[in-house]
Amino acid sequence: MSAYIIEGGSKLYGSVRVHGAKNSALPILAACILTNGECVIDDCPPLRDVEGTVRILRRLGATAVRDGDTLAVKASALAKNDIPDSLMREMRSSVIFLGALTARYGSARLSYPGGCELGPRPIDLHLAGLRSLGAKIVESGGGIECSAPDGLRGCDISLSIPSVGATENIMLAATAAKGRTRIFNPAREPEIVDLQNFLTAMGAEVRGAGGSIIEIEGGKPLHGARHRVIPDRIVAATYMAAVASAGGAVSIENVRPADIASVSAVLREAGVDIRESQNRIEVASEGRLKSVRPIKTQGYPGFPTDAQSIVMSVMASAQGTTMFVENIFESRYRHAGELIRMGADIRVEGRVAVVSGVKRLYGANVSATDLRGGAGLVVAALGAEGETAVGDIEFIERGYCGLDESLAGLGARISKR
Ligand code: EPZ
Repeated sequence: MSAYIIEGGSKLYGSVRVHGAKNSALPILAACILTNGECVIDDCPPLRDVEGTVRILRRLGATAVRDGDTLAVKASALAKNDIPDSLMREMRSSVIFLGALTARYGSARLSYPGGCELGPRPIDLHLAGLRSLGAKIVESGGGIECSAPDGLRGCDISLSIPSVGATENIMLAATAAKGRTRIFNPAREPEIVDLQNFLTAMGAEVRGAGGSIIEIEGGKPLHGARHRVIPDRIVAATYMAAVASAGGAVSIENVRPADIASVSAVLREAGVDIRESQNRIEVASEGRLKSVRPIKTQGYPGFPTDAQSIVMSVMASAQGTTMFVENIFESRYRHAGELIRMGADIRVEGRVAVVSGVKRLYGANVSATDLRGGAGLVVAALGAEGETAVGDIEFIERGYCGLDESLAGLGARISKR
């Protein structure tokens, strides 16, 4: 397993461009199988999770040709409707293909995606939504058989939790369902709006994403389209936190400030100087930051769970105590133990973590426990005293392209071993 070696203490200066959003690219790539036409997806970075999705597309019989950050996908020769256990286990978010395959074929076979580092990742809302659309779903032996021999029919679906994945799966399936589907209490994330925009470009009739009801008029024939993936708001938040942790002044390019406003508000409260313009956020930080009021993770536009570990690393050396409440995932504090190895003072009790800021963290040997937890350790190491080795960076590479090069370009002393 590879590691990042980081010598803390170098302030960060310069500018850095944010790449396309992993959590937008994945459902958009799944949507490409809804048409025989060619789909060209721009700003689709070669992240581990994106390349995993490309492997699934190719296994299903689609072609996917990469030219830099642009992927051309054509599903005219699609020949399979099942995703094997090995590929499902590699990336549980592949469950997003359930809706798209059922829409395309009228049937799909997936193995259960199972849990991950963040705890059990149930898909009951995905399955309930597809059943509401008329799909017959048999769960047995760790597998899911989804079929709709008489096709799918639009209906009203109310989500008890505004699940991002369930919202996306239902949107994808509903494009093939006859009549109108309305999703009540959907996820409102920018990535959901991006998926709506791509489906609309393909000829689908989808509206309301980002709001409280998403409406899909299904049964329209879909054609190929070209689409640029929105910037990755969590990668942007990571760069903001890196400056907050290490100090300096950085211009973050290709970012939509509204997508990450809740994180900007917290960092401003801590004392970070943040200036926003249309596609840029300028971040400057000097000296020790202050603790902030409790941070409670919520669906968009609330504080994103994906930024929790990243901001915790900043608060670990702020003056005062900050409380975190992780409302989205059951076990998303595994990075806290690694931060404690770096001298952090963190108490975890169920969904609550109390972070009492210490003067400065010190370098240590730590390991990424998950994608964003690993990114948080990099943020902590940039501001720590001495050398930190962050192991298991394969987790980090699932969602960050060339994080070490980008940070080195800003003056960080970071290398990959
Ligand atoms: C998406 O995961 C993201 N992943 C996650 O990003 C992100 O943390 C999460 O949304 C929340 O914003 C992708 O988009 C690929 P959910 P998803 O369904 O769709 C429960 C990252 O770091 N739930 O909104 O799996 C679930 O257990 C990753 O980039 C059910 O109970 O998240 C969780 O507690 C990590 N039943 C909560 O809802 C279901 O059927 C929110 O999950 C589905 C979800």
